[in-house]
Amino acid sequence: MTTKKTKGGYDVPWVEKYRPRSLDDVVGNEDTLVRLRAIAEDGNMPNLILCGPPGTGKTSSVHALARQLLGSAYNNGVLELNASDSRGIDVVRNKIKGFAMNKVSLPVGRHKIIILDEADAMTGAAQQALRRTMEIYSNTTRFALACNVSTKIIEPIQSRAAILRYSRLADEQILNRLRYVCEQEEVSYTDDGLQAIIFTAEGDMRNALNNLQATVSGFEHVSTTNVFKVCDQPHPKKVRSIIDRCLKGNTPEAVKAVTELWNTGYSCSDIIGTLFKVAKSYEMPEALKLEYLREIGFAHMKIADGVGTLLQLLGLAARLCQKVEVAGVME
Ligand SMILES: Nc1ncnc2c1ncn2[C@@H]1O[C@H](COP(=O)(O)OP(=O)(O)OP(=O)(O)O)[C@@H](O)[C@H]1O
Ligand SMILES: [Mg+2]
Repeated sequence: MTTKKTKGGYDVPWVEKYRPRSLDDVVGNEDTLVRLRAIAEDGNMPNLILCGPPGTGKTSSVHALARQLLGSAYNNGVLELNASDSRGIDVVRNKIKGFAMNKVSLPVGRHKIIILDEADAMTGAAQQALRRTMEIYSNTTRFALACNVSTKIIEPIQSRAAILRYSRLADEQILNRLRYVCEQEEVSYTDDGLQAIIFTAEGDMRNALNNLQATVSGFEHVSTTNVFKVCDQPHPKKVRSIIDRCLKGNTPEAVKAVTELWNTGYSCSDIIGTLFKVAKSYEMPEALKLEYLREIGFAHMKIADGVGTLLQLLGLAARLCQKVEVAGVME
């Protein structure tokens, strides 16, 4: 296959190439960003905890904030420790304290910043060691912790910091960013193709950009079919047709469709994941939809427990067909 060389080549992952450099480039989570911009303006950064799902811009915003606050002193004034560095008690004692005591020339009124990325992976003991350190050096050094779940950060640290929450990005926000990257990279795409990427990314911008780049390097053109080939997820159209049949109460046809999909080689969790996403956005009476999602959820639990067989999926399809019959009787 010949691959068209786009601007910048394939060497740089687009997630890094298009990582937001300033707070204004970070998409979505307006409430949180308003607070961050206010901090950048004010200059006095409190200790921060940023928490939220992967790929929503936490690491990017902390670095953008630090860059905005420290300007040219960014390189000397910031210490980043992430989950790939060892962060036991010794590191907290030596490296963090050492950095906190260092003299660095900074713009007036600014503080050195210690970024603890993926802080939920720090051991409880290391977090305990951080408590007092955060207070002792508070006149020169501030901490920014990024994590996926705030409950993994011990309470004393939570109480010393302002908590900023990130949520999954909206489809529209991801779409705009994808369009922008497509224009910059001169990618040929269809709108449906971008929608397919959004569908697979589930509000995770990193995932969306990676899937976009993977599709482009594999097939050049971003269309629905190519996206689902690259992401290796069942095509939602096929999954939709299963739900169509369930809604008609047509068990034999629904069973046939599920078996066909299974025979193309997808695993149980691939199929059930897509089934859930499709059902969630399917137009049907609210009560029925909740029943559907409940059944799919239960089946998902069993599958996650290790019972990933075709029988589970067929049982689920049969139950979904029955729901409609029951609803029909009640009417
Ligand atoms: N809000 C956003 N606006 C623009 N680009 C984003 C945004 N969120 C993520 N990205 C893109 O995804 C990449 C990863 O983002 P980032 O490292 O900030 O995620 P994260 O929230 O720290 O995720 P994790 O929890 O996995 O560490 C960035 O390089 C950027 O290209
Ligand atoms: Mg991160």
